[in-house]
Amino acid sequence: MSTVTLGEGNTPLVESTRIGPELGLRRLMFKLESCNPTGSYKDRFIAAEVARLLRIGAKACVATSSGNTGSSLAAYSARYGMRCAIVVNQNAPAGKLMQMQAHGALLLRVREFVSDPRVTQQVFTDLHSFSATYNAPLVVSAYRHCPIGMEGVESLGHELAGQADHIFVPVGGGGLYTAVARGAGTKSRVHAVQPARCSTVAAAFARGDDEIRPVHSTTRISGLAVPFDIDASIALRHLRANGGYAFAVEDEEVFEMQSWMLAEEGIYCEPAGATALAGVRRALERRIVRREETIACIVTGHGFKDPESIAEAAALHPDRVVDPTTLAQHLQGIL
Ligand SMILES: Cc1ncc(COP(=O)(O)O)c(C=O)c1O
Repeated sequence: MSTVTLGEGNTPLVESTRIGPELGLRRLMFKLESCNPTGSYKDRFIAAEVARLLRIGAKACVATSSGNTGSSLAAYSARYGMRCAIVVNQNAPAGKLMQMQAHGALLLRVREFVSDPRVTQQVFTDLHSFSATYNAPLVVSAYRHCPIGMEGVESLGHELAGQADHIFVPVGGGGLYTAVARGAGTKSRVHAVQPARCSTVAAAFARGDDEIRPVHSTTRISGLAVPFDIDASIALRHLRANGGYAFAVEDEEVFEMQSWMLAEEGIYCEPAGATALAGVRRALERRIVRREETIACIVTGHGFKDPESIAEAAALHPDRVVDPTTLAQHLQGIL
């Protein structure tokens, strides 16, 4: 089998219809990574990583994930006949867990994994040792662990190169930012947007130093809660070389952007996918971007993955069970 693919990549870059004009921007674009086969940009990583695993003859692998890497790995493993075990934190969103289970992965929800440094360290030690003993490679979406798979994500930067003056990227561990900055080259300013409640890269950027300090994460944005340095140092180096800025945004701003994208752009994304837009608003306030410049936000993951995060927006528009004889009367509600 020569190529590993489920049709990932070449995702739509759509122009904003309402939010851009409301912000006074001439051209705001959304790069819909939510349109990838399993609903997130991680498919670019997993396609490249699974190709590598098949080349080295792996029959099984183990992975850590906040949810999206696991969803993607489960799907591609099902397709290429590989067995996988996926370790996630116990609070991973329901949609992501269901994807992993539905594709037949062994799903292990470990209490305090990622949130507690001691537990996290122990899990990684155990996974490395299992991996070495049973020849089951460890899959983590970060350059530190899987540089060849991460090269697959650089295609996202290539697709955006020359398309925008500014690209806004949500940051958790920092691998995605690194891949986009590498792929986009020097044609765009690539900015990092991170939750203030889990600020590693953005905090170092604000301090003006190169030290990534571990933090206690309290963010509720799934995918962006990485409180220690996985690819944060490398992302910070790329950020400085690129001339981009880092923004630390509140969770509430992210949820507000998610609701805005639902209501006024028809974009159904998970909170991490709305984080870039929160950075755009900050950049406008600080005059880091000009209104006539072209701006691209990376919408990294689909809303189906995290239904709980959408429930509040949906509840604003309650449905009604109606008697067929009263239908015409109820339809008046849209007039
Ligand atoms: C939807 C989504 N967006 C953004 C990110 C952040 O990527 P990174 O951890 O490489 O910074 C993740 C990571 O899991 C994610 O799932």
